[in-house]
This record gives sequence, structure tokens and C-alpha cells, in this order.
Amino acid sequence: MAPFIIDGKGIAERIQEELKPRIAYLSAKNFQPGLAVVLVGDNPASQVYVRNKEKACAKLGIASFKYHLPGDVKPEEIFDLVEQLNQDTRIHGILVQLPLPPQILEKEVLYRISPDKDVDGFHPYNLGRLMIGDPIFLPCTPWGVQELLLRSQIEVEGKNVVIVGRSNIVGKPLAMILVQKAKGANATVSICHTRTPNLLEHTRRADILVAACGVPEMIKGDMVREGVVVVDVGINKVGDRLVGDVEFESVSRRASFITPVPGGVGPMTIAMLMANTVKAAERFYTRQTGEFCPGA
Ligand code: GUN
Repeated sequence: MAPFIIDGKGIAERIQEELKPRIAYLSAKNFQPGLAVVLVGDNPASQVYVRNKEKACAKLGIASFKYHLPGDVKPEEIFDLVEQLNQDTRIHGILVQLPLPPQILEKEVLYRISPDKDVDGFHPYNLGRLMIGDPIFLPCTPWGVQELLLRSQIEVEGKNVVIVGRSNIVGKPLAMILVQKAKGANATVSICHTRTPNLLEHTRRADILVAACGVPEMIKGDMVREGVVVVDVGINKVGDRLVGDVEFESVSRRASFITPVPGGVGPMTIAMLMANTVKAAERFYTRQTGEFCPGA
């Protein structure tokens, strides 16, 4: 039977709709959430992602502040900018688009972002909070994967989730999210990577397979069992085709649910970024006024 194609775009739109009353509440108090987006250099994919994030802000009435620095920028200039954004009271979330050029050590930048404004959830403070099961800001893409499953009524509890890819942005934080003793989690999680021998043996055991390895169409139909749920986090350009990390044709013949590329996980990342920005703004507002935000 043909699989159910998970409509990430539709689910992402619904999540953004749900943010509107929370933004309106703040707006009625003359308070507008603000997101700073820092882009360094001219990576074409990064430019597209940043533009999509700005568009999402505009649609929701979140103020966005874009900072575009040249690719040969000195590390100190980025550090100074981050410090300035940490202090700026119009800005509640800071996103530095990755990857950064080779002369900049990513962690040197990410560690300087105030954990209170860390809407990417990449700061060690927020990753540590996630690990001990008391998160504040979850990284957007893995949180989006969890929400996609939750809102598609796909039970995660007790399932074998196999993640292919161990990045700090997706693979590792997703494993941390799904392994927690919490609603929408309680899974048995394996993380596979380039040094995993016999990858097939792992992927074939998956009830839910998440592909986040960054290799175009690496997951083939014979690597999954009948009825598997497949979440494809990859976005790769092959010639003029946009493909995921999953070979859609062969895998969809065996899957019960599958996310498309584009229109699957991609829009969810942006929706969760908007959710984190609203949350950061609400937390700021509450710290400033002592007043609780009802939607938070
Ligand atoms: N590059 C790829 N994904 C992401 C993301 O979620 N956040 C940032 N800042 N950069 C990225």
C-alpha cells in the first residue's frame, strides 16, 4: 500500500497559527518579539534559509534584524556583534546561521550567545538542560521531528527509533529528546554513523527511521522493514534536483509513513524557531514585568 505522506508544510503552518494569540497578547502590551539572524559569507543554501526565516517572522509580526557579514570577517567582529545582540533589548532570540567560514570556530560563537536568547538551542547550557530532562530551548530541527510524529499520531513510546547521523544539530539532540521519560518520547534510541558496521542490521530493526546523515538518497528500500515510519531530515541539491537522505521511490514502497523533501522536516525547523522566539520573548517579558504570559 502507498505510504501516508506526512504534510510537514501543513503541520508547520498550524504551529505558526497557534503562535498568533501569544504574539497578539504581547503586542497588546506594546511588546514585539524580536529575532536577530546573523549570516556570514555567501553560502547560497544559507541565504535561502535565512530568507525563509525572515519571511516567517514578517508573516507572524515578529521583528527580524538581519546582520550580513563578509565571509572573511575576523572572529572578534562576530564576537562583538553577538555581545551587542545579547545586550539589545529589542532582540529576544539570536540565530547565527551555520556553517560558518573556516577561520571562525563555530563553538566560539555559539558559546557567546546568551542562553536566554539561544533560540537554536545550541548553547551547552541548553543542551545540558535537554540532557537532564529539563529543557528550555530545544534545537529546532529535532524538536520539529518530534512534533511531526506527535501531530501525525505516530506513537514513539516503546518504539525502536534509529537515527542515521550524529550531528550536534540533529542526530544527538534528537536522540536526547526521544529517549527522555516524557510525553512524546520514551523510545529506545540508536544513533548510527559513518563508523557503524553493518548499518543495515540497525536500520532494518527500526520502527521509526530518521535519516540525518547528509548523504543524498543514502537510505534505500532494502535497508528498511515493511511498515517503517521514515523521517527524512536531508536537504541536498543533486544537479537541479532537491533530494533528501532517503531514496524516496524505493523506501516509500515499504514505509507506512514518510516525509517528503521538500515539504517535510524543512518547514518544521522554521516553525519551531518561531516557537522558540516567542518563548524567549515571553520569558523576557516576564523577567522584565513580573507578569506571567498566559500562552507560555
Ligand atoms: N544550519 C543548518 N541548520 C541550522 C539550524 O537549525 N540553525 C542554524 N543556526 N544553522 C543551521
